[in-house]
Amino acid sequence: MTRPRVFITRVIPEEGLALLRDACAIDLWEDELPPPYDILQRRAAEADGLLCLLSDRIDAALLEAAPRLRVISQMAVGYDNIDVSACTARGLPVGHTPGVLTETTADFAFALLMAAARRIPEAERYARAGRWKTWGPTLLLGRDIYGATLGIIGMGRIGQAVARRARGFAMRILYTDRAEVPEAAILGAEYRPLESLLAESDFVSLHVPLTPETFHLIDARALSLMRPTAILINTARGPVVDHTALYEALTGGQIAAAALDVTDPEPLPPDSPLLALDNCLVVPHIASASVATRGRMAVMAAENLLAGLRGERLPHPVNPEVFDRRR
Ligand code: DGY
Repeated sequence: MTRPRVFITRVIPEEGLALLRDACAIDLWEDELPPPYDILQRRAAEADGLLCLLSDRIDAALLEAAPRLRVISQMAVGYDNIDVSACTARGLPVGHTPGVLTETTADFAFALLMAAARRIPEAERYARAGRWKTWGPTLLLGRDIYGATLGIIGMGRIGQAVARRARGFAMRILYTDRAEVPEAAILGAEYRPLESLLAESDFVSLHVPLTPETFHLIDARALSLMRPTAILINTARGPVVDHTALYEALTGGQIAAAALDVTDPEPLPPDSPLLALDNCLVVPHIASASVATRGRMAVMAAENLLAGLRGERLPHPVNPEVFDRRR
């Protein structure tokens, strides 16, 4: 029996690849950079299954050119790079990797919060540059985390995991979401409308998916509501923050600092003004990047892909309605 052909758009952890090797004929894109769109489109057109990443644009034109595709499996929880409605319209299941990266991502959001509050990257650059002359009473003063107010925007799985960490630091926890979240009360988090949350928080951490509703949620007006001592942490998606407004806020003293795991665009160009700011910490979208979690994500992505190739319901579908329609 001929094995289904799958296009995998980057080398993923071996645990995931091993699951696919026996069952599929693998076309693996081995470059560090994503396949250019025309190549992605061409290779997807030759495949029965596509395992992709958040840096691959999966749009209606790509699907149009790939009638053979039976499943798309994204190795990420977010899927704003995929035109899911176009997939659903074609009855094409899309899988993703929710849950497995929650704690790892929350760890990292908290690490960014602490690093920005205590100016760790700046202090490290200072020491390495040979500028450390003595213990200084006013040297590199940061902000306290213990007892401060944390505002969580998006109280889903990751937002709640961040709240659990904040409890260990005796933080006052505020959150906002489309509606009140029952689990939040157990975590001692109080609901606030967005504007009040921005005004009351010492730290604001973003945990919303990128949708038309959350695009530039943090714009000039939102930043103007924040405290001049506040720190913004983004481990969600870059375009949730208006970067031009952020630059103005960071240089104009409207907020104290930002820590960004995600940016718009990704990567930031080397001449991005944000990269020149001491009060803006930028890292390359690595919140879920622990050995164990990336391994689990690869396995989940492989399992979604294999289920789709067998014509079964994906264990973690983004558009479960395609299966309901098949019944
Ligand atoms: C996701 O999964 O959406 C993250 O951004 C990458 O792990």
